[in-house]
Amino acid sequence: MSRQELVRMAQRAVDAHAEGKGEIVDDILRVPVEHYFDQERWQKEVDRIFKRLPLVLGFTCQMREPGSYSAVTILDVPVLMVRGQDGSMRAFLNVCSHRGAQLTDDGCGTARRFTCPYHAWSYDTAGDLVGIYEAEAFGDIDKSCNGLTTLPVTERAGIIWVTLTPNSTLDHDSFFHGYDEVLEHHHFENCYYAGQQSIDGANWKVCYDGYLDFYHLPILHKNTFGPDLSPKALFEAWGPHQRLLAPDKRQVGPLEGVPVSEWPTEKLVFGVWTIFPHISIASFEADGRIYMISQLFPGATPEESVTVQHFLHCETQNPERDAAVVDRMKFMRFVVEEEDYKTGIQIQRGLKSGAKKEVLFGRNEGGTQAFHKWVQALIDTDDADLSALFAKGVGAKSN
Ligand code: FES
Ligand SMILES: [Fe+2]
Repeated sequence: MSRQELVRMAQRAVDAHAEGKGEIVDDILRVPVEHYFDQERWQKEVDRIFKRLPLVLGFTCQMREPGSYSAVTILDVPVLMVRGQDGSMRAFLNVCSHRGAQLTDDGCGTARRFTCPYHAWSYDTAGDLVGIYEAEAFGDIDKSCNGLTTLPVTERAGIIWVTLTPNSTLDHDSFFHGYDEVLEHHHFENCYYAGQQSIDGANWKVCYDGYLDFYHLPILHKNTFGPDLSPKALFEAWGPHQRLLAPDKRQVGPLEGVPVSEWPTEKLVFGVWTIFPHISIASFEADGRIYMISQLFPGATPEESVTVQHFLHCETQNPERDAAVVDRMKFMRFVVEEEDYKTGIQIQRGLKSGAKKEVLFGRNEGGTQAFHKWVQALIDTDDADLSALFAKGVGAKSN
């Protein structure tokens, strides 16, 4: 995507700030409260959203060198991502072809081979079975048919997406809807990976609603970062992926009165960028830009979720920057745990209490409205129609 597009969005924010207006959509949206706790509904979301769509499971800056890998367990699916000797990123089920043991514990590292801890079968970084312990005694099998099971993987804009279903035929380009090119403006591939922390929360949608919501910022976060922030937002969408821009002084101030041709590109990427269905990207200035990329997953039950906050710093690593990241991590843990997710856990109880039948998303809450429409559309769409759904959209506006 061109700088022109970033300028167009920033200009929208400058104009909206001058008019004192946020974006107003056509109607209020009502969502049944059961959508936040019903077991059957939740299982459909897991199966039809999290198990079918590409998920962000890693970052280029975590695995730059050949042989670097990351093993993670997502929704009970053990995943192994590896940078091959040829530089390509591959993803596999972290499951041995012999009797199903997990090849390597969850975590990051570097390896030339993955040797199963059970009976020492070994695999190379391309997932090929290259060694069988006591091979003659074991008996004849075709090694070339017993490599690791591959998962669809795409690496773009410094981000690694993996689909948890081995034979998924979903066209990733239709899923991205051009958003991968937009994300390139962040240059995540040039960042260094500075740290991560996990926070438990309520139902994954209770949490995700918060990331798509600027309405609450000056209220719930009044004692931390919120008092100067606007409750207004502008929404930009590429298929199900959204960017939220605040038409407030902090964001548009540096652009006002400056000729558009002189707007620095790095000042045009403000706001919250989301990647459907589970990522929110926020950034902060601290001796260069720190990104916090929040990665949400449904937990063990409909009423639980886990969020991993990944921190990437855009400059060269040094001890001062590391210290700035540690400070930011502490602050963001406090804000998210004590303000957002504490409220989310109360919301979860409130929704189950029978007090109300529906939750309401106002005309000023277009981001959450679009998100819930996409969730519903995905639940209603069969595998064969999935790529077409992404190509066509759900009626919400899209770039
Ligand atoms: S289960 Fe891996 S070698 Fe036996
Ligand atoms: Fe919040």
